[in-house]
Amino acid sequence: MYTSFIQGLGHFLPPREIDNAHLSQFMDTSDAWIQERTGIQTRRWVEKGDGWTSATMGHEAAKMAIEHAGISASEIDHIVFATISPDYYFPGNGVLVQEMLGLDTVGATDVRNACSGFVYALSIANAFIQTGQYKTVLVIGAELQSPVLDLSDAGRHVSVIFGDGAGAAVLGRAPEGHSGIQSVHLHAQGKHALELSMQGPSAIHWLNEIADTHGDPSIFAPHMNGNFIFKNAVVRFMEVIQEALAATGKSPSDIDCLVPHQANLRIAQYIQAKMGLRDDQVYNNIQRYGNTTGASIPIAFSEAVRDGSIQRGDTVCLAAFGAGFTWASALLTY
Ligand code: UT7
Repeated sequence: MYTSFIQGLGHFLPPREIDNAHLSQFMDTSDAWIQERTGIQTRRWVEKGDGWTSATMGHEAAKMAIEHAGISASEIDHIVFATISPDYYFPGNGVLVQEMLGLDTVGATDVRNACSGFVYALSIANAFIQTGQYKTVLVIGAELQSPVLDLSDAGRHVSVIFGDGAGAAVLGRAPEGHSGIQSVHLHAQGKHALELSMQGPSAIHWLNEIADTHGDPSIFAPHMNGNFIFKNAVVRFMEVIQEALAATGKSPSDIDCLVPHQANLRIAQYIQAKMGLRDDQVYNNIQRYGNTTGASIPIAFSEAVRDGSIQRGDTVCLAAFGAGFTWASALLTY
């Protein structure tokens, strides 16, 4: 069995920055409320017509990760693309980026596990490399969420937290002596599927409602039972991080950097306090980018490497919780 490691990382944020004051033009909200409840100061939203989609942003992040890995795109054996905001109903974004990278007939897999999507995708890529099926796998998490947000008062508890962006990782076969990815744990609980969901567009709704009645427009905006998600998130984040530590025989003090899914700064701060981690052991950038769902972990990981918060040889824990519910962790040596 082979070991995989993070060979390169990249990220891309669309240039248009939206601050909290801007949102209060559309809905009854305030900078003070958003910062106090979420920690978010700004997020990036694409501009209509600027050409940025989850696939094109994913492509930018991928190019940066490929360069960072010191390889050429032609060395990629497979692509795993995590998004809940793909360019098309079908086909998935994986094939779109495969074509953008000029990879001819390389296989592409799509993952739809929302906030946990990147860790799920990483786990798939890790398994491909462990078995020897592939040597180099490109993993992308990218989201274009701003167009579907409800900017009225009714959607304010959802729309103020989400942002657009993309992150990517090149997973390679670890060199001799590099311990690479040491654990991955994936969980789901479908009984809570609709607590955080966007039901349309969907074949079921088309069949039952849309074709006859033009449908209920609320199915085309995300629905989130925020309090319920929050309460489940803090429990599941802790569980899945503990699972990673137990599987690798490590304790919280061994973690050089925890990169949590950037859901809400209060969630990350709760986990940090419960685990007794110092500020420099937890990486947060939700203040600047909001919650970018499947893109948040690779964006944060890539930024943390670039600003020196994570260095080669560091022990890094990735952890996520979100729609599904799904939750997941990965523990690795960078
Ligand atoms: O990424 C994947 C998973 N997602 C998450 O992990 C998100 C988890 N949930 C959360 O982050 C939080 O629940 C939210 C940030 C979404 C909401 O914060 P909260 O502290 O749970 O607020 P709430 O929904 O309980 O609302 C508290 C009050 C309500 O007013 P009343 O009923 O007390 O008068 C809301 O109507 O705040 C009001 N409110 C707002 N006020 C100003 C809700 N949204 C807003 C807003 N601006 N944007």
